[in-house]
Amino acid sequence: MFLLSPINKKANITHERRSNVVYLHMEFSELIKLRQSVRKYSDRIVEREKILVCLEAARLAPSANNSQPWKFIVVDDPQLKNRVAESAASLGMNKFTYQAPVMVVVVLEKENLLSSLGGKVKDKVFCHYDVGLAVGQFCLQAAELGLGTCIIGWFDEKKIRELLNINRKRRIPLIISLGYSEEPLKAKKRKPAGEMSSWNVYKN
Ligand SMILES: Cc1cc2nc3c(=O)[nH]c(=O)nc-3n(C[C@H](O)[C@H](O)[C@H](O)COP(=O)(O)O)c2cc1C
Repeated sequence: MFLLSPINKKANITHERRSNVVYLHMEFSELIKLRQSVRKYSDRIVEREKILVCLEAARLAPSANNSQPWKFIVVDDPQLKNRVAESAASLGMNKFTYQAPVMVVVVLEKENLLSSLGGKVKDKVFCHYDVGLAVGQFCLQAAELGLGTCIIGWFDEKKIRELLNINRKRRIPLIISLGYSEEPLKAKKRKPAGEMSSWNVYKN
């Protein structure tokens, strides 16, 4: 929270305590800018109350046919968390995960019949979009609570499956690192709006 103070003034961010959890208050458009991939964490413990609020945000995410094809496994046991970090850190990638006090492993569950039939008919894998949305909501909620996250797609899925006793039929699309940020807010690097959107016609 301390690190956020410079933008507090600029973005008019205030905070409020609700049943032991402090929420930052800001416009949604500011929250989107506040959420960034955090790769430097303090060793401050993340309160489980806050993690529960993030899980609730993920739980309320939309999904095709309301299938909700996900399970979030919160790993906050320090030793186990380091084993998860070990599975994510390789070839110079994701070393910061050792620093993050919490790793949340997202498991892709079987989608419901309607969603899988609909996907087959329309040649789409709806459950992958579903998981992305739930993870996005989790991360935005974390930002509102003053927490940093990084969505991680690069990890040894087999190792994590063994570590957490996950059935080998289950895929693990993403992991989220979670903790208090030690990084300043960075400017977003994005394609210009005119390159990613158009009105009434597709533009190359
Ligand atoms: C599906 C997905 C997988 C990602 N995997 C990794 C990863 O393995 N390691 C990492 O450091 N960042 C990872 N990221 C974070 C992206 O690099 C980051 O979101 C992007 O550069 C935009 O920066 P921002 O999140 O700070 O706005 C991933 C993001 C997504 C959405």
